Amino acid sequence: MNRQRIKAMPIFGTRPEAVKMAPVVEALKRRPETFDIKICVTAQHRELLDQVLSLFRIEPDFDMGIMQANQSLSYTTSTILTRLEDILKEHRPDWVLVHGDTTTSMTAALAGFYQRIRVGHVEAGLRTGDRYAPYPEEINRRIADTLSDLHFAPTQGARDNLLREGYSPDTIHVTGNTVIDALLSIIHQGEGQTAGLLNSLVMPGRRLIVVTAHRRENLGAPLEQICHALIGLAHHYKKTVQIIYPVHPNPRVRETVHRLLGQVENITLTDPLEYLPFVHLLNRATLILTDSGGIQEEAPSLGVPVLVLRDVTERPEGVEAGTLKLVGSDTQGIMDETIRLFDDPVEYRRMSQAQNPYGDGRASERIAHVLAKWSLS
Ligand code: UD1
Ligand code: UDP
Repeated sequence: MNRQRIKAMPIFGTRPEAVKMAPVVEALKRRPETFDIKICVTAQHRELLDQVLSLFRIEPDFDMGIMQANQSLSYTTSTILTRLEDILKEHRPDWVLVHGDTTTSMTAALAGFYQRIRVGHVEAGLRTGDRYAPYPEEINRRIADTLSDLHFAPTQGARDNLLREGYSPDTIHVTGNTVIDALLSIIHQGEGQTAGLLNSLVMPGRRLIVVTAHRRENLGAPLEQICHALIGLAHHYKKTVQIIYPVHPNPRVRETVHRLLGQVENITLTDPLEYLPFVHLLNRATLILTDSGGIQEEAPSLGVPVLVLRDVTERPEGVEAGTLKLVGSDTQGIMDETIRLFDDPVEYRRMSQAQNPYGDGRASERIAHVLAKWSLS
C-alpha cells in the first residue's frame, strides 16, 4: 500500500511543554512509515527549553528564538503568531500539535487554525473554573481547546470538562498524561550521573523541602509571602531541615527570591536544574512546596507530598489521590500546614503513598495511534 505519510508539526516553546511533548515526538518518530515530522520550537524559553531538548535528543527543524528578558504576553503572542504564519504556509503540515496552556500553545493553535490546518491539543480539558487562576493559562487552554480538532485529555475528569462545555465525544480521547511517559523514560537512568551534583547540594541527615514558584499570579506580594514562610520554616527547623529552591530565570522571580532568601543559612538557592537531576532531587525530598503544574503530576508517582502554593488547581486527581494539598500563598498558612505535616507521621504517611492518577506511561503511543487512525479514516 502506498499511502502518503501524515505531515505532523509539534510546536512547543517552554520547559513544561518540552518535557511533555518529548515522548510524543518520540512516539511519532517510531512510526516513520506513517508520520513525516517537522518540529518547531518558538523558544518562548531559551535555556529551560534547550536543557530538555538536549536530554531527549530533539533537534528542531524550526527554531523561532523569540525569547526576550521580561517579555510581555502581547509580545510573545504577536511575535509567535506572525512568525508561525510563514512557517506553516511554507511547510503546510496536515496537523499542528500543541500542548497545554502556554502562550505558545494557544498561539500555535490559532496560527494553525488561520491556515486551516488541523490542530491536536495534548493535555486538553484541564480547568480550574477561575479565569484568573492560573493567569493567563486558564483562558489559553480554553482557546486552544476551541481551536482544536482533536482533544487528547489526560484524565477522565478532563474529558468530562470538555463534554460539559459541549465538545463532541468523537474528538476527545483519554490518553493519560505524557508527563508520566517522560518521567518513566528517565527516572531509572543516570542516577550515577546526577548523584555527584545532588550530593553537593543536599545536606545529609536533614529533611529536604524542595520549592519552586514562578506563576504570574504569585509574582509580587504572594511570592514575598511564600518567601517569608520559607524563612519562618528555615528558622523553626534550623538544624533539621534544608530547603532547596531552584529559582526560575524570570527576573521578577529572581529579584524577590534572591533578595529575601539569599542569606538564609539552611536555604539553598540554585539555578533551575536539568530535568534528570531535578527528578532525582524530587525523589529525595521529604516535602515539595510548589505552584508548578507539572510537578503536581510528577509527585504522586514519586510518592512525595506536595503543598500546592495556589488557591485552586486544575489537577484535582492529585488532591483526590491524597498527595496534593492546596495551601495558597499565605505565610502563616504555609508554615502551619508544613509543621502540621512534619509533626503528624500518620498524615505524612497518608500523603506519601505513591498513587499515580495520570496514566501508565503509554499516553504518547495512544496519541500517535489516534492521530494515525483519524487521519487515515
Ligand atoms: C510560562 C507559561 C507558564 C509556565 C512557565 C513555565 C505562559 C503564559 N505561561 O510562564 O504556564 O508554567 O512558562 O516555566 O506561557 N526566562 C529566561 N530563560 C528561560 C525561560 C525564561 O531567562 O529559559 C525568563 C525571561 O526573562 C522571560 C521570563 O523568564 O521573560 C518569563 O518567561 P515566560 O515564558 O514569559 O513566563 P511565563 O509566561 O510566566
Ligand atoms: N523542572 C525542572 N527543573 C527545575 C524545575 C522544574 O526540570 O529546576 C521540571 C519539572 O519536573 C516539570 C517541569 O519542569 O516537569 C515543570 O515546569 P514549570 O514548573 O516551569 O511549569 P508548569 O508545569 O508549572 O507549567
